[in-house]
Amino acid sequence: MAERIFVAVAWPYANYLLHAGQAAGAYLPADIFARYHRMQGNDVLMVSGSDCHGTPITVAADNEGVTPPEIVDRYHPKILEAWDRFGISFDLFTTTLTPNHYETTQEIFSRLLEQDLLYRGKQDQLYDPDAKRFLPDRYVEGTCPLCSYAEARGDQCDNCGSQLDAIDLIEPRSKMSGATPEVRESEHFLLRLSAFNEQLRQWVSEQPHWRRNVANFTLGILEEGLKDRAITRDISWGVPVPVDGYEDKRIYVWFDAVIGYLSAAKEWAEKKGEPDAWRPYWEDPDTQAYYFIGKDNIVFHTLIWPAMLLGYGSLNLPYDVPANQYVNFSAGQKQSKSKGTATWLLDLLDSYDADVVRFYLTQIMPETSDSEFREDELIRANNEVLIATWGNLANRVLAMIQRNFDGVVPEPGSLGPDSDALLATVREGFELTGNAYASCQFRGALREALSVAQAANKYLDERAPWRAIKEDRDHAAETLYTAIQAISGLSFLLHPILPFSTSSLHTTLKHEGTPETGGWTLLEVPPGRTLGEGGALYKKLELQEPVAT
Ligand code: MF3
Ligand code: ZN
Repeated sequence: MAERIFVAVAWPYANYLLHAGQAAGAYLPADIFARYHRMQGNDVLMVSGSDCHGTPITVAADNEGVTPPEIVDRYHPKILEAWDRFGISFDLFTTTLTPNHYETTQEIFSRLLEQDLLYRGKQDQLYDPDAKRFLPDRYVEGTCPLCSYAEARGDQCDNCGSQLDAIDLIEPRSKMSGATPEVRESEHFLLRLSAFNEQLRQWVSEQPHWRRNVANFTLGILEEGLKDRAITRDISWGVPVPVDGYEDKRIYVWFDAVIGYLSAAKEWAEKKGEPDAWRPYWEDPDTQAYYFIGKDNIVFHTLIWPAMLLGYGSLNLPYDVPANQYVNFSAGQKQSKSKGTATWLLDLLDSYDADVVRFYLTQIMPETSDSEFREDELIRANNEVLIATWGNLANRVLAMIQRNFDGVVPEPGSLGPDSDALLATVREGFELTGNAYASCQFRGALREALSVAQAANKYLDERAPWRAIKEDRDHAAETLYTAIQAISGLSFLLHPILPFSTSSLHTTLKHEGTPETGGWTLLEVPPGRTLGEGGALYKKLELQEPVAT
């Protein structure tokens, strides 16, 4: 029976270009996963959008002397362009500025308030005596209380990845004026997270399929005890607080951003002309919701959002949160969004085909530990693995069929044991690769698929059809028939990772429909079919100057 899968992907702040680290950490894994499930015939809804509130946006606007909406208007289209060129197949990629999102956010706020899960409290906040205003977290820098990194931001430490409270920074300084902030009181709404500690602990401990590090990190926080958190701020940019007397404050960006997962599903349904179509994804307990994020976002997805959902009631909790570690770029620097050592995704796509970037980023996907991006390694991966193991295999076989059989798939006769064995390996590849995709082990899925390609290469080398064609045409016919089946299978196995090149191969093989409608199965290229010409799937690359500095 078809499964229903909700694929939720972290909302990028719309204040910078996307970098390759974000792509490898969240968007590419989400897309691979969504494509795999669509191929399986499952019902997938994949949404996200630009995160348009919060100090990342206001800091950018202040720096450039423009308004926050102008920042969003500049970057949101760039983000959409990146998805298009990189092949990230969202059903909807919206923004947090829609009326629907504001309504959904305020409705959740009001419901939690009714349930006494939000309450008013006095908060100590950092105040800039020179600028005469409260300082949002990101307007403060100082030393991380946990790892002593000197340039931690008020909300988060880019060195150790911890979420911080600006008030806990050692030697804080205001990014507005450079002044040393003072502590002043301000009234805010707090989310009663402490009320959910036990329930969340129980829930997390019942998720054996979660990644170890995600579960342990989350349980560690619950062990210490969740503290209530302010979810309003002394700022003027954000979703208004639906309570009298709060006109000068706004809902905290993280509170509204996670609600985006729900509001985006509603917007998708509305746009589709079936306003209730979002419900099964959120209300049917058989739906599995996967959240693809980087490790710096774990708490928000395994604790805060689940607490909000539990408080709101009747909506599905995450089924899995396969958070990734970081990809480091050049000289061991973190792929920080705020510090600018990134290799921008769009720059990379100017230099390399999307599938090549997808291939390399899948190889280094930081699933269990940090990994390192190196452009020379990308080129090596392209030449020595993607082309050597897979691209050449497809090209060689297609070329031999063109040359020796006029492009027509030959009759195999009865298959010998080695041919049978290869086809069995391909069929088993669907099983093994499929399991890896389904359990969010994308590096492992790629490895499985490549080992099938290796088996096909070995088979070809052993049967040497280029020699056999002269002495024993039937032998060569059997080989090429079998090899083209393996290539058909591999094209499906690799499609979630390499959607562009495998789609063109799909056309060359004259399969009907698209790889996503073909099903997760070895689709025969029948004898007698005239194949298309196709071209080389990938280009050999020379090592060149790095694209980003
Ligand atoms: N904008 C945040 C970031 O880039 C991620 C938000 S994820 C969401 O780190 F769940 F809150 F939407
Ligand atoms: Zn730190």
